[in-house]
Amino acid sequence: MKKPYTHYLIAVSDGEVAGFIGASLTLDTADITNVAVLPALRRRGIARALLLKMAARLSENGAREILLEVRKSGEAAIALYRGAGFSEISVRRGYYRDPTEDALIMRRALD
Ligand SMILES: CC(C)(COP(=O)(O)OP(=O)(O)OC[C@H]1O[C@@H](n2cnc3c(N)ncnc32)[C@H](O)[C@@H]1OP(=O)(O)O)[C@@H](O)C(=O)NCCC(=O)NCCS
Repeated sequence: MKKPYTHYLIAVSDGEVAGFIGASLTLDTADITNVAVLPALRRRGIARALLLKMAARLSENGAREILLEVRKSGEAAIALYRGAGFSEISVRRGYYRDPTEDALIMRRALD
């Protein structure tokens, strides 16, 4: 059986790390574990570029779908994911702590 696979991509701007994305892949299902961009460099398309590159990389490595969790109040992240083809499939009650909050589970099929 193929081993779970973890992958990180970083975005570099002027020699500094501007953002990163992490994902894990088990069989044909991938999970985006985190994505973040330096506050001063937001709204320049860095997270979108990281997410699309990661989706392509995961697809090349056998992923058929990508799942992720996001705080229900995470408007920027939810907009980012919707714009990259993800849609909400369910809610995980009380998933986050400090503060306690529901998670939206989002999914994008890859083909
Ligand atoms: C969410 C985050 C990664 C977005 O990074 P970014 O590089 O600024 O995002 P992009 O510039 O690629 O934005 C892509 C799209 O996402 C949406 N978006 C991004 N930030 C947004 C905001 N503050 N409000 C509303 N929509 C937003 C927009 O649709 C945007 O497209 P547009 O600029 O053409 O309108 C960044 O705000 C961040 O690091 N936040 C803190 C960490 C976090 O919340 N991570 C996600 C947890 S799962």
